[in-house]
Parts: sequence; structure tokens; C-alpha cells
Amino acid sequence: MCGIVAYIGRREASPILLEGLKRMEYRGYDSAGMAVLDGDLRVGRAVGRVAALEEVLEREGGFEGTLGIAHTRWATHGGVTEANAHPHRDDGRLGHGIAVIHNGIIENHATLKRYLVEKGHVFTSETDTEVLAHLIGELYRGDLEKAVQSALREVTGAYAIAVVCEKEPDVLVAARKGSPLMIGVGKDEYIVASDSSAIVAHTTQAITLDDYTVARLDRESFRTTNVDNDPVSAEIRELEYDLGQIDLGSYEHYMLKEIHEQPEALRLCMKGRVDLRSGQIVLGGINQFARDLARAKRVIFIGQGTALHAGMVAEYLMEDLAKIPTDVEFASEFRYRNPIVEEGTVVVAISQSGETADTLAALQEAKQRGAMAIGLVNVVGSSISRETDAGVYLRVGPEIGVASTKAFLGQVCVATMLAAFTGRRRFLAAEAVRDLMERMSEVPGHIERILEQSDAIRDATARYVERDNWLFLGRGYNYPVALEGALKLKEISYIHAEGMPAAEMKHGPIALIDEGMPVVFLATRNSQYDKVLSNIEEVRSRGGHVIAVATEGDEEIRDRVHEVFWVPDVPEPLQPLLTVVPLQLLAYHAALMRGRDVDKPRNLAKSVTVE
Ligand code: M6R
Repeated sequence: MCGIVAYIGRREASPILLEGLKRMEYRGYDSAGMAVLDGDLRVGRAVGRVAALEEVLEREGGFEGTLGIAHTRWATHGGVTEANAHPHRDDGRLGHGIAVIHNGIIENHATLKRYLVEKGHVFTSETDTEVLAHLIGELYRGDLEKAVQSALREVTGAYAIAVVCEKEPDVLVAARKGSPLMIGVGKDEYIVASDSSAIVAHTTQAITLDDYTVARLDRESFRTTNVDNDPVSAEIRELEYDLGQIDLGSYEHYMLKEIHEQPEALRLCMKGRVDLRSGQIVLGGINQFARDLARAKRVIFIGQGTALHAGMVAEYLMEDLAKIPTDVEFASEFRYRNPIVEEGTVVVAISQSGETADTLAALQEAKQRGAMAIGLVNVVGSSISRETDAGVYLRVGPEIGVASTKAFLGQVCVATMLAAFTGRRRFLAAEAVRDLMERMSEVPGHIERILEQSDAIRDATARYVERDNWLFLGRGYNYPVALEGALKLKEISYIHAEGMPAAEMKHGPIALIDEGMPVVFLATRNSQYDKVLSNIEEVRSRGGHVIAVATEGDEEIRDRVHEVFWVPDVPEPLQPLLTVVPLQLLAYHAALMRGRDVDKPRNLAKSVTVE
């Protein structure tokens, strides 16, 4: 949600800021802005992508200066207008020349604004961030760091901010609570950013700020304090990220690149964790808690969006393989419904970014109620990973496309290992674990075969892409995949799609089916195959056109459906790792055919760091 980047050093700030914004554009892309200090504070803002901001800067003859802040926005408070774009300034009457960029939400902005208006402040935007800028200005007494600390003491909500002040041309102040913020540490320079993608081109040394930390940076040094000005320690660590991982290479879109990276991503995810000879699963991050996990009375998976769908697969896995009663919940609902967390409850948060606000808050709530907290997270050092008692990183590499693809596979793969690991410590035979892991190690090769069908999937998609309503149906392990297929299609092509258990169709949604309506069935050979075939007949007899994802060699299904995408035969618990892949490709091709911006679909942002 919103990307922020700031620079203080000896180089020109604006090219570094622009490059950082481009790398973080996936975090939000409604509007963008930049402020650079060179004697005066120069501010440029534009509605639209970073490219629009670039044009504004060019028109203004470029911004020179070695201290600056920049922002790419995903609107929360106030529409998508230039006036609402960041940076926001304090009240000009005061003459401080303060500018702020912000990611998060200032929840008490209305109260603060009333107070400031009474003091004569005049606001020019509808944003909560402008309130913060004015508050800092109001409290400024010649020391920016102190003014920021004082302002943050008054603020409730979430923030990652960077602040500059005309009167202090050698100081950059940054602070964080509830929204991610890192400081890249270079030689005589610092780059502050919402994520490492804006930093790695310049340095691999970085500090991940903790909540409630305020950092004051000049060109040679920095210090970190809390909002009461007490010193706070900050650890510099090496970023595990290289630029190659976040470049598009020869692909047209990140989504396509990431779909194609899935075989390798899964290999990396399993590497060193699965010993095929002994059939042992080694999950270093949770070893210490293996006994607690095996004795758990209940496991609850929480997440949002695609991560929730992975959690639904995990629910089946945990009950099947470890025989522990398991639930899965939207983190957003779990948090607010006064959940019962009894002794022996383990809460597992699933998240690619590790920054999803609802998932983080639900995890904190569960911990407070006494649950053991485990994280299945991709981004190393992210908020969720730091909040958990134990965890397993996905290790699928950075995911930039807004539509999650390889992270889903990583989440399901880790959940499979986690369930088998736990099951082994309960009733699951060593043989069963070895067999399952052996079959899972073949999955990357299977995915490579599925990817070869991309053109066939594109051609089939073309026959239905004009249809505005689609259904996705599956049973058992394939039910979450139906939800995921529908989510992929709607989020990047804007085609309305619904996913549901195939049996549920008869309880209402069947009324939607008319001549030619595309209905995607997950119809692989498994325990529910015959039931799915019956559901296919029900759809066909009402005129629906069936697109099936089926098991290679299944001649029986070929004549019963209009289109079929093939996946190799694997045991039922592993089927989601394969059946989702044709649906990712279907969504990708549909979005392209409809002329959509695949990597930056409208209204979305990669990680949702506001509740
Ligand atoms: O970073 P997270 O995995 O916590 O994100 C959760 C969802 O916001 C995310 O999966 C979202 O649904 C994707 N855009 C779906 O493709």
C-alpha cells in the first residue's frame, strides 16, 4: 500500500527517488510525488503512474538537491487527485517548509484537524497525512526530530513516514508504527524505503525499523529513538535480495515471469527441508516448537485473499495428515469476533508480504489470548515474521506482480511440509511421509509440463473472454483452488467470477447458468471425481460451457467438456499445487485480451497495510 522512499547523501536525490518509486510502484499507483530540498523545498505531484510524475519534473526543469522524499500512492483518505498526492506540507504561514510522505492511516486525524483548524491552519487536501504534516509544523521549535516525536505522541493509527524541513537541510527524519520501513545504509548516504526493492540497487546493508522507532539521519550518521526520545537499538543486516530477482528480464509482465518461476521457486522452497532418503522433513524455524505443535489441540490458519485460499488447503492438509482439528479464517474477521483461543491453540498466519495489516493484527490478538504463533511468510524480516514465535519462510523469491502466483504455491508447499512434519510426530507413518515428499519433489517438473500448455490455454480463453460472468467449481482440495481461480480472473481482468464448492452450485448459483456461460471445473482424478462429473452434467444440461482441469490420460472427461487443460496425476493433497497453474494462465491471458494492466490492476496494491 503506498511506496515511500527518501534519500539523504551526496548524490543527486531525484534519480534515486524516481528509480525507487518505479521499483515500488506495485505498492500503489494512483498518484505519485516528490519533494527535494535545495535551499528551497521543491514539490512535484501527479495523478497516475510514476511516469506522470517524471513528466512533471521534466516540465519543471528537474529538481536538484541531495535530500529528498518521494511517494507512490494507494488512496485511503481522499480521492485520487493531485491535491491529495504526497508529499504534504505543513501550513505555509508558519514558514518552516516541512514536507511529509506517509504510508498508513492516522486514525484520529479528524480530532487533530479540528484542533489545528482552531489554531488557524488551512488545509488543502482531504488526506489524513496533511493533518500530520500540519501537526509537525505546529509543534516545530527548531528541531525536526523533536517535532516529529511530539507529533507522533499525539497520533493513533499506523504510519511509516519520512519528513524533511527547509530549515534543516542536512536532516531527514523517518518513523514507523505498523507500516513497514527500512533504512539502507550506504557510504555517507541513507535510503529510507517501504521495502528493500528500492534499496538493493544502492546497498545491501539495511536496518528494519521496529514499531515506535524514530530515526534521525544526516549524511554521516544516524540515531534511533522512541517517541519519548529514549535511545532504541537498530541492527544493520545484510539484505538477501539481488536485483536480478526483481527485474523483468525477457518477460512482458511480472505475473507471467512469476508463473514461470514456480518450478524453481518450489525447488527452493523444499531445498534442505525434505530428505528423500530418510523421508525426514527439517523445518529449522519451528524445530524448537515441534512438540508444542504436535500436541496442539487446535490449529487456526489466518490470512487474506490468496493467502487465505492457501490456508484453506492447509486446513485440509492438517486434518488429513496430522489429524488435528483445524480451522481457517479471514484474519480480518478473526480479529474482531472475540475469538475463543483455548490452551493448545496454534495460530498460523500466512502472508506473502508479511505486512498485511489484518493478518498482523489478528496474529497479535491471538498471541495476546495465549495462542502459539507461527508464520508462513515470504518476506524475510517482515512484520508478521517478527511477530511470530516460530515460522517457515516460503523462499520463493520476491513477488512483484499484484496477482499472487508463486507465493500461493510456496504457501501450499510449506503447509504440506508443516502438516506432514506434524503428522509424523503424531500418527503418520514414516513411509507415508516419504511417499508424499517424493511425489511433491516431482511437482516442479509437472508444473513445467503444464506451462507448455500456455498457448492452448490462451486459445481456449479467447473463446470465452467476452463473457462477463464465470463460475469456478471444485470439491475437497480443489475447492480452495476454485476460489483462487475466480480471484485471479476478477482481480486482473475485471471479469466477474465466483468460486464455490461444486455441490453448492445447486443451492442457488445454478440459476445463473445460461447458454454459453463459462464454468471452470477442477475435475482431477480423486476421491470426489464421480461427484464432479455429475456436477459437470448438471451444468451442461443447462447450456453452460465447461472448461475442465483434468488428470492427464483421463479419456472419459474429454468428451464431456468443451475445453480441457491437463495436469499430471499426483496424490490428492498435492493436487492444488498443479490445478491452480492453468487457472493462473487463464486469468493472465484473459486480462491481456481485455487490455488490462496485468501487473497493476485498477484499485489494487500489492500489500494491504491498512485494515
Ligand atoms: O501479502 P499477503 O499474502 O498477506 O497478501 C494477502 C492478499 O492481499 C493477497 O494474497 C491478494 O489477495 C493478492 N492480490 C491476490 O492475488
